Amino acid sequence: MLRKLGRYLFEYKALLISVLIIMMIVAILSGFTVGMITPIVSSLFGSTYASSGPWIFRWLIKWVTQGDRLENLIKLAISLILIYGIKFPFSLLLYYLSDSLEQRTIADIRVDMFGKLTNLSYRFHSETKSGELLSKITNDTEKIRFALRRGVIHLGQNMFLLVVYLGLALWASWRLFFLALLLTPFTLLVIQFIGKKVRGKFTTLRKERAFLNTLASEMLHGIKIIKSFGMERYELDRFKEANVNYRKNYVKSHLLKAFLPASSELMGAVLAGGILVLGGILIFRGVITPDRFLVFLGSIILVQQPIRQLNLAYGDLQHGLASMESALEIIEATDIIRDEGKEILKSFGKAIRFEDVSFSYDESKPILKNLNLKIKKGETVALVGPSGGGKTTLVNLIPRFFDPVSGVIEIDGKDIRSFSLDSLRKKIGIVTQDVILFNDSVRNNILYGNPKATKSKLNESIKKSHLTTFVSELKKGLETEIGEKGERISGGEKQRIAIARAILKNPPILILDEATSSLDAVSEKLLQDAMAELLKGRTAIIIAHRLSTVRCADRIIVLSKGEVVEEGNHSELLKKNGLYAQHYTLQFKE
Ligand SMILES: Nc1ncnc2c1ncn2[C@@H]1O[C@H](COP(=O)(O)OP(=O)(O)O)[C@@H](O)[C@H]1O
Ligand SMILES: [Mg+2]
Repeated sequence: MLRKLGRYLFEYKALLISVLIIMMIVAILSGFTVGMITPIVSSLFGSTYASSGPWIFRWLIKWVTQGDRLENLIKLAISLILIYGIKFPFSLLLYYLSDSLEQRTIADIRVDMFGKLTNLSYRFHSETKSGELLSKITNDTEKIRFALRRGVIHLGQNMFLLVVYLGLALWASWRLFFLALLLTPFTLLVIQFIGKKVRGKFTTLRKERAFLNTLASEMLHGIKIIKSFGMERYELDRFKEANVNYRKNYVKSHLLKAFLPASSELMGAVLAGGILVLGGILIFRGVITPDRFLVFLGSIILVQQPIRQLNLAYGDLQHGLASMESALEIIEATDIIRDEGKEILKSFGKAIRFEDVSFSYDESKPILKNLNLKIKKGETVALVGPSGGGKTTLVNLIPRFFDPVSGVIEIDGKDIRSFSLDSLRKKIGIVTQDVILFNDSVRNNILYGNPKATKSKLNESIKKSHLTTFVSELKKGLETEIGEKGERISGGEKQRIAIARAILKNPPILILDEATSSLDAVSEKLLQDAMAELLKGRTAIIIAHRLSTVRCADRIIVLSKGEVVEEGNHSELLKKNGLYAQHYTLQFKE
């Protein structure tokens, strides 16, 4: 998982290397400030209390012990300010570069997820909860970002500091250093154990968070249904219960995470006690000079910070890797609908044919059974039958939202799988009962059918779909923004926007799936007229309940339990006195 996160990071090698170099510079400068203890001691107490260090310190010691005491102190102050002055721009640069590294990497992951989700088949989406996917794009990427910041950037920064401080400590006294070292493996074991626990907990926590999102998005989508069934209380209780679970696990896992720094702090205290005693003995016996003891103490105190940060970083990295895993579930998802057709479907010439087509969503329940069907160019075919009979499923096979389990669907004698998905879908227009409007202007919503359409084509489509009055009554006309989900627009208007889209797209094949089912009489009249405009010169499959729509079809196909049970025109089917006739008389009576 870390390797996969690394793959995204390594896209920015130059940036990454610059960040590492600057981290190193900042760490060395930080080490310098600790090393300054030696010249400070020699200047305050005389050089007998201090040992010489690297050349730069020997030079410093000489420089600060030449003049009188006050002069020396001023020199020391200047040196200190100088070191911090040099560190300052590097620290800023480090912030800037590491932020851009982090944001670039995360944006790449986010865009990859979004891109993959738009490309994944309808089948994939119909089988996955949108709340879960949403949580992956928003929450998981945020956690990966956090893990990158803590687990990679802070990790790197603190590693360098660790090396510098440990180096200083080793130089100051190897005896004290090894005493400290003896106590560390124990610390590491504790940390690793807790880290593993934390990771597991956070995976569960992420799932519970996604579940909260799913519940909320289901509620928002189904608010009408919830209200009509008076289920507000039930939904609220369900949400409350999920929240209680989430809260409990959140507190538990975060407590576990807090264990990491708290336990390392305690270990630090044990360490300090040991050093104080041994260090004192070494000074009394003249083995080390006091300044070395002070440098050692300084670096050991300062090294606590990177160690603590490294512990935190470890926990956060584990935490982020769980999210990376979840993000990769999308990025690496394999799709069942393969876009492997090489041929371009240039035009629709003769017929659509279903040959022995069987389909099921899962093996246990067949939805379509050995279906044979031919729709000739120019025909308007109505598909009727009891709800759940497989009508929607059947038409979804034509644009390949799903592929048949067996049998083939052909257009002009060729298996539709031999065409590229894009060229196939360009030839098909779909209007369904639930029209999706995007949070954008009315113009752009209509232009969805063909973003490159000219102004006159746009106006023509508005006229043909009887939207002229609707648009003229809008405050800002075509530029009016559709409120979120277009709740302010009536069902009939939505349908006509969908028709305008389809007219702009101008596909030879049309699928209308219960497009008129939810409308009142006035809206329906307008819609019928718009629909008639849309149908002109096209091949259409209309799924409808209303016989007024069905009656004018060239051919009516009655589908029940996944099989064609009757076929013919309106009067032929009435004479047959079968399922269609029953249905017709029932509606006629109403
Ligand atoms: N995405 C899906 N996953 C599983 N089963 C489905 C799915 N969509 C529809 N079904 C089932 O397939 C059957 C046919 O549904 P559908 O084609 O929508 O019928 P119709 O449009 O004739 O009402 C129904 O039993 C329905 O429950
Ligand atoms: Mg249906």
